[in-house]
Amino acid sequence: MATTQQLESDRILAARDRYVARGIATPNLVVAGASGAEVVDIDGRRYIDFAGGLGCQNTGHGLPPAVAAMHEQIDRYLHQCFMVGIYEPYVELCRRLAELSPCRGAEQRSLLVNSGAEAVENAVKIARAATGRPAVIAFDNAFHGRTLLTMTLTSKVAYRKGFGPFAPEVYRARAPYPYRGVSSDDAVAGLELLFKKEVDPASVACVVLEPVQGEGGFIPMPADFLVRLRDVCDRHGILYVDDEVQSGVGRTGPLWAIEHAGVQPDLLLSGKSLGGGLPLAAVTGSAAVMDVVEPGGLGGTFGGNPVACAAGIAVLDEVGTDRFRARADEIAERLQTRLDQIGARVPEVGEVRGLGSMLALELVSDPATREPAPQLALATTTGARERGLILLSCGLYGNVVRILVPLVASDEELDRGLDILEESLVDACSRD
Ligand SMILES: Cc1ncc(COP(=O)(O)O)c(C=O)c1O
Repeated sequence: MATTQQLESDRILAARDRYVARGIATPNLVVAGASGAEVVDIDGRRYIDFAGGLGCQNTGHGLPPAVAAMHEQIDRYLHQCFMVGIYEPYVELCRRLAELSPCRGAEQRSLLVNSGAEAVENAVKIARAATGRPAVIAFDNAFHGRTLLTMTLTSKVAYRKGFGPFAPEVYRARAPYPYRGVSSDDAVAGLELLFKKEVDPASVACVVLEPVQGEGGFIPMPADFLVRLRDVCDRHGILYVDDEVQSGVGRTGPLWAIEHAGVQPDLLLSGKSLGGGLPLAAVTGSAAVMDVVEPGGLGGTFGGNPVACAAGIAVLDEVGTDRFRARADEIAERLQTRLDQIGARVPEVGEVRGLGSMLALELVSDPATREPAPQLALATTTGARERGLILLSCGLYGNVVRILVPLVASDEELDRGLDILEESLVDACSRD
């Protein structure tokens, strides 16, 4: 690589340190281009992308019909603000979301916003208005965003440290985590105990739960737990908010991960991959819940930007095809097979887990004690980047290596990425 090109990367990294807030954790990667499942840095290095811009590229970087729809919309008009002048792409995206909604109830309607956190915030507002109750239940290992309320719902000190006081009327329940000894029975019992010790269920507006906990460690909620949680909600008149910001839009195979369990939530939250790379998120639910809020109670300047909506429509079209689903299932199988092999070979892999292609390795320093090994996850993701693979970690202990590969990757890209993952992991273990 020419030295002058190398200096480009160094120059931008130095400027990043000078001008950008330290509180955003960033890698030494300066992106210059991306397509499908590949990212190119400013020095011309090519990377296989197992991160997808943090789960936002299920349909691949630059999905051609989405890019074409964005261009068309850019030429027509840009921002209007839906509260100033309405436009068809917003209404059309809501129509698609209604058709595809897993929620219970008639006449599904949506509110469009800019980010997952904003979707969670609005879901809580709507649930409170619909039930007339104040309390919200979130779960262990949850991640729901970085605003004051969503950070309060999030279950990890690293995201909360120094930022209190937190939002009131948020209660924490146990979530199943079989590898760390928490079963569905334990989680249901925990909820019942919470109702005895901490909060009257009659004052709870909603529970908020990811069907596969993402930042918390790629922990799929057992199907029976979701069924039983739905039942608990029904017994107490509590609304079930399904946060599919990371697990949705085809990541686990079906459009929404909750479909694996056959449970109907009251509100669905989508985001990340919905916008095909543009900021877009949604709250979807029946008119009976959504329309309790009076006109003027919901909204925002940029929510449901026309260009993002045009992209979102193209993304949902793509994810709804049989071809996309078939490839997503193939990718899931290929990843699972290979991760299982890695797990069998490397003792530091405590568990291989996930749902569909939302798969991860939990790393431990000793399989007997299950002591979390965040240093191995860090060394693996750093080593992978040096070898040409973008890979992320997650988990309460930071010891889980997760895969969020665009679901358009070729077999060659997947195999090469998995080779690098294994090589980096084995190397990290040998140095530990
Ligand atoms: C399940 C879940 N909910 C909410 C959010 C917050 O989304 P955003 O970062 O778009 O605010 C995330 C982000 O990772 C998420 O994974």
